[in-house]
Amino acid sequence: MEKAVTVTVGYYQFSPEFGCVSKNLMEVLNCLENTDADIIVLPELPFTGYGFSNREELLSYSEDPNDSSTVSDLVSLCVRRGIHIVTGFAERSDDKCFNSSLLLGPSGICGIYRKLHLFDREKVYFDPGNLPLKVFDIGGIRIGMMICFDWIFPEVARTLALQGADILCHPANLVLTYCQQTMLSRSIENMVYSVTANRTGCEKHSFGDLEFTGTSQIVAPGGVIIHRGDNENKEVYSAEINIDRARNKAITQRNDVLADRRPGYYLR
Ligand code: ACM
Repeated sequence: MEKAVTVTVGYYQFSPEFGCVSKNLMEVLNCLENTDADIIVLPELPFTGYGFSNREELLSYSEDPNDSSTVSDLVSLCVRRGIHIVTGFAERSDDKCFNSSLLLGPSGICGIYRKLHLFDREKVYFDPGNLPLKVFDIGGIRIGMMICFDWIFPEVARTLALQGADILCHPANLVLTYCQQTMLSRSIENMVYSVTANRTGCEKHSFGDLEFTGTSQIVAPGGVIIHRGDNENKEVYSAEINIDRARNKAITQRNDVLADRRPGYYLR
């Protein structure tokens, strides 16, 4: 019998302080120094914080990931610990600013995803993502990235599943309460693992307060919650998962959630 492919995935749920990039980075580095996870997911925008007042403020915080001491420090950690990190990132690319997710590993930047579906005030200061959805292979494990509000568009998870994603890595800064339940469906309908890393705490801004909902979670194919955190406490959590579970798309003996699709009949 072939040996099961297993990997330990985790998340770090915490409360970044708006604008305190070095402090937030230090907190993440300290926490991940002792993680037993092979792949760890951080929230959306975990270093800058979330609620920018305007484009100018975002421009002053956004960085080119290829020229970023934040990314260099995270990659050094990946080298030291032999891990991969999926993290939110305020990405500067020429005159554009994207709400991005980076897949980092011992070899550096392994993948970038730019949030396709901007939420609420993000539309005021971010540029919408301009890269196609793509799955990244790290040592035989296939990673799909989506960010926060992408949860409400089933096309995102489905596109990644059709490309062979084993794990949907999902950095989030959720302020609504529907997502965690909905991600169970994303893990059922695509028979994939999902890791939603959400932040906690509150940001107070002149345009209003933002309360984040925590309850980060790791979900198995079939929508089984492996672990769900609470809505206020800092937490680093990891669990070993069997990747083979995400490669069997059968939901009954006669039904396969991907092969049974009838795309010729769907609206385009
Ligand atoms: C969100 O997309 N940050 C709600």
